[in-house]
Amino acid sequence: MQVTLHPPGSTARGLRQFVGDDMARILQVQDPETIRVAVEALRRGEPVAMPTETVYGLAADATHPAAITAIYEAKGRPRFNPLIAHVSDIEMARAHALFSPLAERLAQAFWPGPLTLVLPLKTEGGIHELATAGLATVGLRVPQGFARTLISAFGRPLAAPSANRSGRISPTSAVHVAEDLKDRIDLVLDGGPCKVGVESTIIAVDGDKLTLLRPGGVPVEAIEEAAHGKVRRYESGETGIIAPGMMRSHYAPEAKLRLNAVDVRPGEALLQFGAEPLSGEEQASWARNLSPAGDLREAASNLFSFLKQADGNTKAGIAVAPIPMEGLGEAINDRLSRAAAPRD
Ligand code: TXA
Ligand code: MG
Repeated sequence: MQVTLHPPGSTARGLRQFVGDDMARILQVQDPETIRVAVEALRRGEPVAMPTETVYGLAADATHPAAITAIYEAKGRPRFNPLIAHVSDIEMARAHALFSPLAERLAQAFWPGPLTLVLPLKTEGGIHELATAGLATVGLRVPQGFARTLISAFGRPLAAPSANRSGRISPTSAVHVAEDLKDRIDLVLDGGPCKVGVESTIIAVDGDKLTLLRPGGVPVEAIEEAAHGKVRRYESGETGIIAPGMMRSHYAPEAKLRLNAVDVRPGEALLQFGAEPLSGEEQASWARNLSPAGDLREAASNLFSFLKQADGNTKAGIAVAPIPMEGLGEAINDRLSRAAAPRD
């Protein structure tokens, strides 16, 4: 193939279309070349899928309008839904948001980690309004592992939603990303399966008031302990706080979900939890246990990949055993009820 015929300045995407290859390139994060290739792509304003401890993110320069637009386009995401800006440390975060003493305390306690703080935006920091969807606040988080190293090397915040097409199940492996976004992105960085497996907990901090916008990888109980105070639950429709991303139907598998199932109907796929058997288990078309030991952390890390597998192995819907509402169970039940919600 005559790649030299390319006009100068053509992008990697143009090149791939030219050679007719529609799979994204997957690079291992352990490979010392990977970080350089990723930083170069980000500098060109291209989105790059990166591993985080929660789920894979589709990352691009949060200060670069064309780069942010490329994220929305690859995902097919509504533009009024803002993106989380990922930063390398509290210092970088402080350049982009106002920290109350309580926000500072939570950042110290949980970063790097699966907590996103929604704080008053400092526009002079340079995060583009396409990333914040024009809100006066910004969602910030310091991720663990390779993502953090990448942000440090890049030197600017990375806007990164989950690396799935809008409305689909969040990816917890590089292969999930490549399957879902195939021809829409060029580069996937493979850091193995995500340790936490559900997205970050999102907390809006208004002075000394905390509001939970999305349950996630840090249990609310742990946040209340660190804050020495209560976290309010956001009620949809309430005024004063804006939570644009909390759509009821989300994480949509093709199959219908039946939650809190106490039995299994013929041909259903079964997502089990704990050691208690369900009646009719032998009628399942497929079955996996999110955590035979009843460990909610293990269940969270298996949730999205098992949901995908169940979806591909049933014609009669998916039965899901009851999951307790404590600790990470709140995030797991939140994702399951969105996956089960009627589609709009
Ligand atoms: O774990 C995670 O949070 C992953 C990884 C990649 O970091 N990211 C993620 O992003 O889940 P995304 O875009 O799928 O979900 C971000 C949510 C959206 O529902 C969005 O509406 C909300 O965060 N959000 C972002 N900025 C906000 C803001 N300023 N105010 C209220 N909600 C905000
Ligand atoms: Mg998402």
